[in-house]
Amino acid sequence: MTRGGGSGFGLQELARISHGKGSYVFDEHGKRYIDGSGGPAVFSVGHCHPEVNAAISRQLDEIAYGYRYLFTSSALEELTETLLRVSGNCFKEILYSGDGSEAVESALKVALQHFAARGLMNKRHFIARRRSWHGNTLGALSVSGFAARRRAFEGSLLDVTFVSAANAYRMPEGCSSASLVGYLAAELEQAILARGPETVAAFVFEPIVGAAGGVVPAPAGYVAAIQAVCRKYDVLLIADEVMCGSGRSGTWRALEHDNAVPDIMSIAKGLAGGYIPLGATLVTAQVAAPILSEHGAFMTGHTFSGHTAACAAGVAVQRIIERDGLLERVRTAGAVFQDAVRGSLSKFDEVGDVRGRGFFVGVELVRDRATRAPFAPDRGLSFDIGRRAFADGLICYPCSGNVDGAAGDTIILAPPYNASDAELEEITAKLARAVGETLA
Ligand SMILES: Cc1ncc(COP(=O)(O)O)c(C=O)c1O
Repeated sequence: MTRGGGSGFGLQELARISHGKGSYVFDEHGKRYIDGSGGPAVFSVGHCHPEVNAAISRQLDEIAYGYRYLFTSSALEELTETLLRVSGNCFKEILYSGDGSEAVESALKVALQHFAARGLMNKRHFIARRRSWHGNTLGALSVSGFAARRRAFEGSLLDVTFVSAANAYRMPEGCSSASLVGYLAAELEQAILARGPETVAAFVFEPIVGAAGGVVPAPAGYVAAIQAVCRKYDVLLIADEVMCGSGRSGTWRALEHDNAVPDIMSIAKGLAGGYIPLGATLVTAQVAAPILSEHGAFMTGHTFSGHTAACAAGVAVQRIIERDGLLERVRTAGAVFQDAVRGSLSKFDEVGDVRGRGFFVGVELVRDRATRAPFAPDRGLSFDIGRRAFADGLICYPCSGNVDGAAGDTIILAPPYNASDAELEEITAKLARAVGETLA
């Protein structure tokens, strides 16, 4: 039996998916699963939304896609206008791609091309953070601080400098809440100086860390502090919002919360809500200007970039989010949801932290609440919980390795933005049951 390239959280046998409706998916035996994590934080407007399906179908009836070197399309132009507007009119150019890794890959290449266009060919180096995930292509993997996923490819990855994760629950040795932001900004500055500012092109980070951290929002003041350091040394700031963006955290851009605009931003996942693969890289006018005047165009892109039916899906998903006020829904219901998850898990000593923003909630499990010591990696606790939840008809997203690359257990919840209150309660109750039964 083929497994579609995945090992399914250690599941022995993958269920065969049959269909979906709203917040639910069904397997071939009719078993119903509530999609508490939107798969991997993808399904922003739920499954099988008739309006999205109709928009894709209409587009396919006309044409599947127009090759980007020859044609533009109404779907692409409408999506571009929409994304520039909903992201706050702070970007000027959009490069489309097929997924999150490609969107990050394009972000890295745009940064390099920007400095090439300015004649600064030494600015080639990237700085990224430990406990981060940016994707599986070689460039995106190179800037990812995720030991288990890098190991097999070490030796062929780009030479990248890694600095500490910005995690208020797991601070670097000797840091306090009061000193954390200053410490992280100084560490980044030191890393730039050690490498030589004239060689550093960009700093890449996730505004809210996803799979590598278990939903870790940056501490207050962090983004302003690192942005000031980047500006001082002419280093571009790349925000990877593939998982946390496109509305997932209750603002369209996750960094709106921090009042910050990056130089380049990658998005995917919730953008077209999983209906057709779609990623995008948004670029400010300042970053784009030298590229366009020196080279005339961005030197990145793929055969299917800006695929017309994918853009039509993106337009339909974004229209639903705007029309139905789903950002407001994610903000307000998200706070209630997070409190409910925290409340339902508070009786378990092994639940060390519940955190997040909007419909992006992380649960961290620890062996000892006081010391925050993790379970041994070979216990496989988060995946055990994920399997038990799945058997009970709940899809959640278990992750491991957030403490030191091997140890650490977290569970991500990321329901569709239009999940009802009753559905959120079902997710909360089923997760508490899975955690309780696994720990017992
Ligand atoms: C923050 C972030 N960046 C990039 C990626 C890569 O996206 P994809 O798997 O669509 O290539 C992911 C995937 O989980 C992600 O969470």
